[in-house]
Amino acid sequence: MDKLDGSARLVIVSDLDQTMIDHDDRENLSLLRFEALWEAEFSRDSLLVFSTGRTPISYKGLRKEKPLITPDITIMSVGTVIAYGEEMIRDVGWEEYLDNRWDRNIVVEETAKFSQLKPQPERNQGPHKVSFFVGKQGAQEVMDSLPQKLEKRGLDVKIVYSSGNALDVLPQGAGKGQALVYLLNTLKSHGKPPNNTLVCGDSGNDAELFSVPSVHGVMVSNAQEELLQWYEENAKSNPQIIYATERCAADTIKPAEVVVKFYVLYEKWRRGELPNSSSVMEYLKSITHLNGTIIHPSGSECSLHASIEALSSCYGDKQGNKFRVWVDRLVTSPIGTSNWLVRFDNWEIEGGARHCCRTTLLLNMKPETLEGLELTHIHKTWVEGHSAGSERTFIL
Ligand code: GLC
Ligand code: MG
Repeated sequence: MDKLDGSARLVIVSDLDQTMIDHDDRENLSLLRFEALWEAEFSRDSLLVFSTGRTPISYKGLRKEKPLITPDITIMSVGTVIAYGEEMIRDVGWEEYLDNRWDRNIVVEETAKFSQLKPQPERNQGPHKVSFFVGKQGAQEVMDSLPQKLEKRGLDVKIVYSSGNALDVLPQGAGKGQALVYLLNTLKSHGKPPNNTLVCGDSGNDAELFSVPSVHGVMVSNAQEELLQWYEENAKSNPQIIYATERCAADTIKPAEVVVKFYVLYEKWRRGELPNSSSVMEYLKSITHLNGTIIHPSGSECSLHASIEALSSCYGDKQGNKFRVWVDRLVTSPIGTSNWLVRFDNWEIEGGARHCCRTTLLLNMKPETLEGLELTHIHKTWVEGHSAGSERTFIL
């Protein structure tokens, strides 16, 4: 939050599963495009907030699987945990506030009396979140009677139903919407109320986000029935809320796009997910300068075209290895009118191992190439704690 001197131009508060991340998009293209746009156009003066039903453990697992950039703020466990920055510093004040009229043991005891409630695994549970799987009909019965039962025992709870199968019992003050209200108030009290806030979601636990006063909202085209029903009943007349025509995250911009596409191709080539065709290498050569060089994290220098040759012989070498490559914290800075300095963290995951290079890359405008841009120089250095011994990482 301290990243900005003044108010954020835009705060995007987005759900992850089936909103930011399209689990049907195996190449993660729309996610990568959104991220490129965010890094290129917004990250300098705006804030990215992920708001997920996942617990910190489950969110961490997702980060290992998907090429996610690092948000400024992470709201987890359906608005019961708020964490700041890359270090994920927990907002203890928020969690203390949620203790009000809440006792997890009593919730567990009373919910056990509903035979239709099947507890979710331990990793999905939290100090202020008791979660179950249950069908629609069974969920309705619980929502109709559990709050009164708990009230008699001195508790005040909120029940949230999502995706036609997940039911969360939370303290009344919790939830994604309440957590956002708290966050906006915190920003305001620091003298930095955002200029615009955009919330995005697909399921029941996101409904509250759209009720936060003065926010704009996007419900993705693949939104769940319970969110659409909530929209029909509560928000249809609100022009600030849009029901999108596109699935999950979308749209993009150059030169960040060129860099991201470069690494998407790199990943797919090594995963053997592209046709093994010389046209891929020809494309890469066509957007790199003939005399361009790359300095590898080890310090060795090599011509870009020679590195592309080296990549060419690694087709499919990571097939079946859970190999992922992505670009995080990307910043593009124009140098004069026709050059860009692009800086980013380049991650490679293989199995459980994560490696990262801080990368600086120089792009020139070159209208005759396919992208209108040409890569002239790449310089990589290990990020402390994330270096790799193997030479078969970070060929480019
Ligand atoms: C996420 C969580 C799950 C929760 C659901 C709905 O899927 O992992 O525990 O019930 O969101 O909020
Ligand atoms: Mg979702």
